[in-house]
Amino acid sequence: MGRLQGKSALITGGASGIGLAAAQAFVREGAKVMLVDRDQGALEAAVKDLGAGNAVAHYADTAQVDAAETFVRAALEKFGGLDIAVLNAGVGSLGLPVDGYPIDEFDRVVGVNLRGVWLTLRACVRVMKPRKAGSIIVTGSIHSHAARALSSPYTTAKAGLLGMVKGAALEMAGHGVRVNMVAPGFIDTPLLRKALDAIVPKGGVSGRDALARNIPMRRLGASEEVAEVMLFLASDEASYTTGASFAADGGVLAAWGPTPD
Ligand SMILES: NC(=O)c1ccc[n+]([C@@H]2O[C@H](COP(=O)([O-])OP(=O)(O)OC[C@H]3O[C@@H](n4cnc5c(N)ncnc54)[C@H](O)[C@@H]3O)[C@@H](O)[C@H]2O)c1
Repeated sequence: MGRLQGKSALITGGASGIGLAAAQAFVREGAKVMLVDRDQGALEAAVKDLGAGNAVAHYADTAQVDAAETFVRAALEKFGGLDIAVLNAGVGSLGLPVDGYPIDEFDRVVGVNLRGVWLTLRACVRVMKPRKAGSIIVTGSIHSHAARALSSPYTTAKAGLLGMVKGAALEMAGHGVRVNMVAPGFIDTPLLRKALDAIVPKGGVSGRDALARNIPMRRLGASEEVAEVMLFLASDEASYTTGASFAADGGVLAAWGPTPD
């Protein structure tokens, strides 16, 4: 029997990268999934790939104030319940210093990566709390735990998510709902590829190779490697785990200086 047999899951940002890999892992383990995304074409392709009997698509922008209430209701109508929610929709940010950062760009990044996650969390808690069961998984980042220069809105949002996870976990601890974070490092997805493609190679070394050299495991991660941690948190195997953050980062957060060869 699959580890998520008979369970239903909602995954925001489920049409690509880490969200899609989570959907594939959850379906493999017997769950039915609703993918929420604002990329209609990718959403349709993802559902086709997963199989219409396993997955449904919901087109929405998680930054919009009423979106979450609508897609959570749709998931309840479709599945008759909601056991798991992966709050994963997110965007990258521009590499600019704080004193030169455009305010509307700050609002865009925080609007999706922090406020949008909180709106989704709120809607999920409203249905899971009365049912006294549920596992909520928030996609944070290594930026939830440590900062990087020139990404202040992204770091602000992802660090804020850690407080959100801990606070919600405490509120839900007596109500059977677990809330945890997965903090990916540098994962080979369209989001990261876009950022790496913008880096001009230096001394014949591509941005991708330069980045990999600074990761203790000397490589980028795969979406599937993050999805497996999400699967653990979604499953009953994590029944005593709440308010925690699990890194899937090739050792980045463990490092202070260079890693020996
Ligand atoms: N790739 C990395 O290196 C990395 C590292 C740490 C954290 N993360 C986080 O992982 C999450 C997933 O990113 P990914 O790397 O898989 O990127 P991705 O671009 O492959 O996938 C993100 C998906 O989210 C969707 N999305 C974005 N904003 C949305 C919105 N407002 N409403 C609905 N859907 C929206 C996109 O359309 C896309 O399908 C993000 O929260 C990101 O910040 C990624």
